[in-house]
Amino acid sequence: MTKRANNSSRPLQVVQFTDTHFFGSPQGRLMGVDTSFTFAEVKRLAQSQRGTPDFYLLTGDISQDETESSYRKFSQSIRDLQAPAYVLPGNHDARAVMRQVFSESDAPIRDDLSFVSGAWQIILLDTLVERQVGGHLSETELERLEVALSAYPEHHALVCLHHHPLPAGASWIDGIGLDNAADFTDTLDRHTNVKGVLWGHIHQQFDLERRGVKYMATPSTCVQFKPRSESFAVDAVPPGYRWLELCADGHVLSGVERASRVATGLDLSSAGY
Ligand SMILES: [Fe+2]
Ligand SMILES: [Fe+2]
Repeated sequence: MTKRANNSSRPLQVVQFTDTHFFGSPQGRLMGVDTSFTFAEVKRLAQSQRGTPDFYLLTGDISQDETESSYRKFSQSIRDLQAPAYVLPGNHDARAVMRQVFSESDAPIRDDLSFVSGAWQIILLDTLVERQVGGHLSETELERLEVALSAYPEHHALVCLHHHPLPAGASWIDGIGLDNAADFTDTLDRHTNVKGVLWGHIHQQFDLERRGVKYMATPSTCVQFKPRSESFAVDAVPPGYRWLELCADGHVLSGVERASRVATGLDLSSAGY
């Protein structure tokens, strides 16, 4: 846990990048897409539109192939970020490899699992189950969430994870979400300071308000999945990122911005990933 200085009257500026799916090899492609190229494009867009935020959130599937070189390549690609980047793993990540490479990197990557900034506490959860696409919150992670929320009852909380805790609205994708989502939402519901929940994994935008809490998912920086499709389908919409403004009074302002074009090389006929 670290505390970051902030003039608490102004909103915290946050940028989320998710599901970058980097490859170790320069020839690596996800459904025909050069993921490092599309990430660079989305990162430049965020930098031009949002300037330097207070911090970045990277919500998993950093790598597609779990290789050291993919994490090295990713960390090199964010060396120019002028604010700390907090990271949590997704189902495609190898958490030990990722943490090791990032700890040796000169990119502004932070390994804090929670931190306080101004009027807010940010909590990053690990839902990765090795060799499984769907996610799970262990007893340890649920306990850590409970303890963190109880430790700062006067701070608003933004909780981040990779897997979706609410249905996205299609059977194939809802079969690979957070398998103990009720344990998660029960914990959140016991605390009035939770104001936002943020995830990746579903490669599409999702916004829902539940019990006064904003639940948000964000497009991937590479390939998008078609919303409400009964079976896996690629969506021909551009990659993007999410910005958030976390106000001192607990309000969350947020939006998704997308690149101007669909990812070059995208294979719309892909049958899975
Ligand atoms: Fe992903
Ligand atoms: Fe994922």
